[in-house]
Amino acid sequence: MQTKTPDQFVAVLDFGAQYGQLIARRVRDLHVYSEIFPCDIPAEELAERHPSAIILSGGPASVYAEDAPDMDAKIFQMGLPIFGFCYGEQIMAVKLGGAVGHTEKGEYGPAQLAVDDADSAILTGTAPSQTVWMSHRDAVSQAPEGFKVTAHTDTCPVAAMELPQKRFFATQFHPEVRHTQFGRQMLQNFLFNVCGLEPTWTMDNIVEEKVAQIREQVGSKKVILALSGGVDSSVVAALVHRAIGDQLTCVFVNHGMLRKGEPEMVEEVFREQFHVPLIHVHAEERYAQLLAGVDDPEQKRRRIGTQFWKEFFSVAQELDGIEYLAQGTIYPDIIESGARKTGGKASTIKSHHNLIPFPEGVHFDLIEPLDHFFKDEVRELGIALGLPDKMVWRQPFPGPGLAIRIIGEVTPEKLAILKEADAIVREELDAYNARLFAETGERNSAHSCWQYFAVLPDIRSVGVMGDERTYQRPVIVRAVESSDAMTADWAKLPYEVIGRISSRIVDEVDGVNRVVYDVTPKPPATIEWE
Ligand code: XMP
Repeated sequence: MQTKTPDQFVAVLDFGAQYGQLIARRVRDLHVYSEIFPCDIPAEELAERHPSAIILSGGPASVYAEDAPDMDAKIFQMGLPIFGFCYGEQIMAVKLGGAVGHTEKGEYGPAQLAVDDADSAILTGTAPSQTVWMSHRDAVSQAPEGFKVTAHTDTCPVAAMELPQKRFFATQFHPEVRHTQFGRQMLQNFLFNVCGLEPTWTMDNIVEEKVAQIREQVGSKKVILALSGGVDSSVVAALVHRAIGDQLTCVFVNHGMLRKGEPEMVEEVFREQFHVPLIHVHAEERYAQLLAGVDDPEQKRRRIGTQFWKEFFSVAQELDGIEYLAQGTIYPDIIESGARKTGGKASTIKSHHNLIPFPEGVHFDLIEPLDHFFKDEVRELGIALGLPDKMVWRQPFPGPGLAIRIIGEVTPEKLAILKEADAIVREELDAYNARLFAETGERNSAHSCWQYFAVLPDIRSVGVMGDERTYQRPVIVRAVESSDAMTADWAKLPYEVIGRISSRIVDEVDGVNRVVYDVTPKPPATIEWE
């Protein structure tokens, strides 16, 4: 099922390094829908999607490099307003007859912008001298004929230029970056004053629109969904259920390696609160057998992933008349896998970062209502649909679950220890994060923990409890600050918080006599231990 695009939207042409993602998010923050396209999309193809405006993103290349990302110059003849940032300004200049020069030294970081034309539609409402964020080597040396230069910096003669009759605007700096003092104002000026768009892309409207779309697509047919307890699948479940009620069946495959209390939360939210038809597959025993004697992390991942779909499809095939499979594919999954572009999407299933084919003889049409949403938008949607905070703000949790936080073989004894120790880590750090949130009003403020959990290594060490010598397991506490898991730093937790976690774990969890704290950033380490 192809997601229908709202009537008004901004097409962002991405010139590399995912600069486009940030721009699309900023536009959406202003309640205008925005979608990312490869920079070399032909004008005809873009016209078929009927965008309302175009933004040309920045990019890391030089416009004169041999393999520099290019665009179809006919896009400038579509009659649409166009705003170019950085590389986007340079390519606009080159395509329309201006020139780009190599500056001696690049300009990276904050710069002081002097506005030369206060009447510029883009610069209206900003200060005569203001801070902007630069990140470039080359720069436009000559604006194309007819263009007016509206701002400059010490090193950059054409820091902003425009051809208002055609509604073409461009800046050498990055308005989408928070450090550009009036960046948000400039985007607002473009979207609302220049393009005349309406800020109607709000969560309530989106829910209504998505519900209508799902109803139209599905009609009276039946839909199945694999519910994992994670944010994405939970939001899809709530959304599809809002649209088609009991035509949706959710299948929750319990592999026994979720964290303490999670299977109960899935039951409570979906069965009791939402009244969604839910099949809880108790596969704990089968997984335990499958993992017995396996200590290689990749083997564990493979076995768990393969078994998951076996369990799921064996239930799906027993149900009558299911035609659709709903799943929580989100926009970064699509952008990063390039699945859309290669046309591979329709025949694959999202499986813990991997796309796997349907098994022989099985086919469902896919419903992926979140396939154009960023993660924070998925959370907002979850809140609008009435999902509880603890589910919407659930931290990332690997598909293979606690199996990859138990070093070596997974045994019932180790699982029991890890679940208890992990519950204590989460309880204490949830409370610590909540205190920071109350102080700062920000969910992911400078010192809050982004992901935190316990790890159980495959060793024992000596300790003493009472008068007795013990020989028991240590627990490793891992808590990181991050925003996207690509890089992370160990969280600088107050000593008393670490101390309380440590004493609670050794006091409350049988079989543990030592607690250690992992103080390694990523890189060189990873967030998980396996
Ligand atoms: P690493 O350990 O590579 O993890 O720094 C980065 C992020 O990815 C999560 N992660 C996984 N998620 N299946 C998943 O669904 C996996 O096999 C897996 N391994 C790591 C990890 O929790 C972190 O947020």
